[in-house]
Amino acid sequence: MPATDHQLTGPVMGPAEALSELFTPAGKHHPYPLYDALWELGPVIPLGPAGTLVLGYDEICTALRDSRFLVTDAAVHEATGMNDHSSWQCLTKIMMFSNSPDHERMRRFAGWAYAPRQVAERRRSAVEAAERWTSHLATLDGGGPVDLVEAFATRVPITVTGELLGIPEADRMPLRTAITATTTAFEPVFDRDELLPADAGMDVLVDCLADLVRERRRRPGDDLISAMVRDRDAGGALSEEELVASLVMFLIAGVQSPSDLIGNTVRLALNRPAEGRRMTTDHDHAAAFITETLRIDPPNHVLTRAAATDIDFHGHRVAAGTRALLVLAAANRDPRQFTDPATFDLARRDNRPLSFGLGPHYCLGAAFARMQVEAAVPVLLRRFPRMTLAAPPTYRDQLVTRGFARMEVDLGS
Ligand code: HEM
Repeated sequence: MPATDHQLTGPVMGPAEALSELFTPAGKHHPYPLYDALWELGPVIPLGPAGTLVLGYDEICTALRDSRFLVTDAAVHEATGMNDHSSWQCLTKIMMFSNSPDHERMRRFAGWAYAPRQVAERRRSAVEAAERWTSHLATLDGGGPVDLVEAFATRVPITVTGELLGIPEADRMPLRTAITATTTAFEPVFDRDELLPADAGMDVLVDCLADLVRERRRRPGDDLISAMVRDRDAGGALSEEELVASLVMFLIAGVQSPSDLIGNTVRLALNRPAEGRRMTTDHDHAAAFITETLRIDPPNHVLTRAAATDIDFHGHRVAAGTRALLVLAAANRDPRQFTDPATFDLARRDNRPLSFGLGPHYCLGAAFARMQVEAAVPVLLRRFPRMTLAAPPTYRDQLVTRGFARMEVDLGS
């Protein structure tokens, strides 16, 4: 019998209150009751010039497939001053924040790096990283609770992605703070100073990757940076800045959301030990567990689009220039799409959350991310079968890229 996850629900409030609460620190920590309250206003909520909030599953699918809804590229940011910030100067040079035709050009250039063969070749590396960091955890046992985010969830992806890119081992861990800092640039910005931590993080990552590009051009190795430098220098349609930006993005995307997904999966596994334990022996069960985690508690809650023109959208007019905030995490609980949506239910058929997006910008790293989590979490749970949460996890102050700041566990070994 599937159980409702009470930690993912909460008190009931009115829609107006819910809206003003959503981007406050408390709202970002506990958004699910707010999504429930907002749902009373319907799947599409016009907010005037402030934008349009989209909560419905079908409605988000329509928006993600409609090329009139643009990603926030440099042209969209033109009037906002965001292009002055080093975080957005880099982000607007990657495919995620580029529209046609640049988007297709960049996606074509880098597509092979995300192909199934590349993912399969990294599986061994992911298992080894998980084994290495569970052994590290064991050395920390005995002195009280351990922070699983710091000691495991971020270390596995940065090890796997660092090896793939060819980032020297000694440089990897110091990059973690910078990686997380850059993801704050994705949050709605109310005061431009809020971008300063993301700018500082981005400067660190751009310097590091630009140095590595220069070095690999001189002395190529058997890594992704060398391969991408070779492709570009052989006439690949990417500028030098776009090359560095793409590698920076690979590092950010390769580490932050997989790390958050490991945290969310482990938390849900510890809350339901029998189903969690079965992940260690049954690969299909582990895959279903991760899909259901992606649905009920995804790492990325909101995507932003800008209307290129006036758009008639599910009975509402979205005016040209208006931002549409597509709340993937709410769509994943749309009762028209998912029966009993607040319930963690591994028996769901045709379980298709929107957590990796949809349409032309669908996550290129989805298989790579899933592979890492499918490798890491069973290794962890096998090694520490009596692990329990020592305290409720705390969240970073973010909603777009949402995840735990700390997750204290008793390893119980
Ligand atoms: C659990 C982990 C992950 C989640 C939840 C996630 C989520 C997403 C989402 C929602 C999008 C769509 C963005 C949009 O439409 O605006 C996206 C795009 C993208 N993701 Fe991921 N991602 C994850 C892991 C990764 C990894 C590991 C990589 C690569 C190493 C990656 C690389 C990308 C790229 C390159 C795009 C842009 C695709 C395009 O614009 O055509 N992601 N991701």
